[in-house]
Amino acid sequence: MSIAIIPSNSLAQIATEHPMSTRVFARHQMDFCCGGNLPLLEICEKKGLDVLKVVEEICNEVQNSKEEEVRWDQTPLDDLMDHILARYHQPLKEELPRLEAMLDKVYQVHGEKDPERLLSLVNVFRALKEELKDHMEKEEVILFPMIRTGQGAMAGCPISVMEMEHKSAGASLCKIRQLTDEYQVPSQACNTWRALWHGLKELEESTHQHIHLENNILHPRALSSS
Ligand SMILES: [Fe+2]
Ligand SMILES: [Fe+2]
Repeated sequence: MSIAIIPSNSLAQIATEHPMSTRVFARHQMDFCCGGNLPLLEICEKKGLDVLKVVEEICNEVQNSKEEEVRWDQTPLDDLMDHILARYHQPLKEELPRLEAMLDKVYQVHGEKDPERLLSLVNVFRALKEELKDHMEKEEVILFPMIRTGQGAMAGCPISVMEMEHKSAGASLCKIRQLTDEYQVPSQACNTWRALWHGLKELEESTHQHIHLENNILHPRALSSS
């Protein structure tokens, strides 16, 4: 299979056409969800990366992938929303309390080792958890039913609110990345601490995918539906 990646295309477009490319974007910390409208070439220049090498990485990732790449831009919107609910919303409802419990435990047991940073982490995480809970409810109760009943083209208002909330969640995830030293496990960390850092990293990865599917595929397709 030969694939063509055009460096002047936006990250969002490349991620939509080649979902496996998001592994490369995540590796280089390239924002393909909220800030995904910038061209790959521009992002590479900003980060001092050789765009041809990044294109090669993407091609390798796509060609070597054993998973089938689902083209959500070509799949019925109902199926895309079902996928978002099953793959992201449902698991998040279990994962957020699990991470919160681990975070509380780490703070109670090890808080004195790095009090300021761990307390900031507790606060940022709790706020994010509440935000995501409310946000998903709005999607489930208001936006997705509008799209399912053919009113997507009139959903400009709820969509702009959802995209603002995505930006806010993205900013909280950036803060969590900073507070965890980019998820590097401290040498004194116990098993719960290690599992927490791992879980927070996975939360970041899955939330970026989740936001990408909504911002870059679901929302524009819903708005242009008739
Ligand atoms: Fe969502
Ligand atoms: Fe969302």
